[in-house]
Amino acid sequence: MDNQGFVSLVGAGPGDAELMTVKAVRLLQQADVVVYDRLVSDDILDLIPTGVSRISVGKEVGKHCVPQEQINEIVINLAKAGRRIVRLKGGDPYMFGRGGEEVLALREHHIDFEVVPGITAASGCSSYSGIPLTHRGMSRRVQFITGHFNDNEPLNLNWKSIADPDSTLVIYMGLSNLPLVIHSLIDAGLPATTPAAAVRNGTTESQQRVLTTLEQLNDAIHQQRMKAPVIIIIGEVVSLADELDWFQESLEIKHLQAFDENRTVHEKNALHR
Ligand SMILES: C[S@@+](CC[C@H](N)C(=O)[O-])C[C@H]1O[C@@H](n2cnc3c(N)ncnc32)[C@H](O)[C@@H]1O
Repeated sequence: MDNQGFVSLVGAGPGDAELMTVKAVRLLQQADVVVYDRLVSDDILDLIPTGVSRISVGKEVGKHCVPQEQINEIVINLAKAGRRIVRLKGGDPYMFGRGGEEVLALREHHIDFEVVPGITAASGCSSYSGIPLTHRGMSRRVQFITGHFNDNEPLNLNWKSIADPDSTLVIYMGLSNLPLVIHSLIDAGLPATTPAAAVRNGTTESQQRVLTTLEQLNDAIHQQRMKAPVIIIIGEVVSLADELDWFQESLEIKHLQAFDENRTVHEKNALHR
């Protein structure tokens, strides 16, 4: 099949465009079409050259804009039409991204592909919020779990093995079932005072970070009116967040400066009236 296209399944990382791999950026420049998800940031979409077609297949938890089967069909049809496609996904395609399913569909249709990893939200948010995922003497193991099962199936996880005080727990898509998650972890033996963090829009200018304890986490998230995308990190490593922070504080200073500048302009205008 000479006219067969090619699919690059590419991880876009968590938001900061400079966290894309060199390979991902090169592939965007060489693509005919980019098929992208909702969590791909505008800064990253700005890297797509003009003239390259873009197809949004954005999905939100509970609100599937384009069903998975239809996404597969779009990509397969483009490949059969001989296009060079970048299938761009937030974070890493193989971390809670259904990347494996998309590649299985390509295999079934004998379409050539490659997979380019991206920085997953856990790594990006950990670095940009001052929380190392492992730390000698604090955490020997990292567990990545999803807090949401497809089609709103009950969250049936092995809480005994997850509630380990010597490990770090990272929860993707954890907002909708958070009270149940907190209750199940405490019930399974994780101390209610275990340090816990929530990071929203990690690695971007709008990153929000909440530092609290496991038992206070739900209230703290509501107080800050945090909405998806939020990643949750639970474990002793969270206690290092203020000491190791380098990003959140600089963001807050920037926001304060912007507020001050605006106020000055406003006050100046008031003086001239
Ligand atoms: C469908 S999963 C996709 C994960 C993605 N494949 C990855 O490797 O990061 C979407 C979830 O990832 C997390 N997430 C992705 N980007 C994030 C960000 N910039 N800040 C915080 N959480 C993020 C949130 O928990 C969100 O609900």
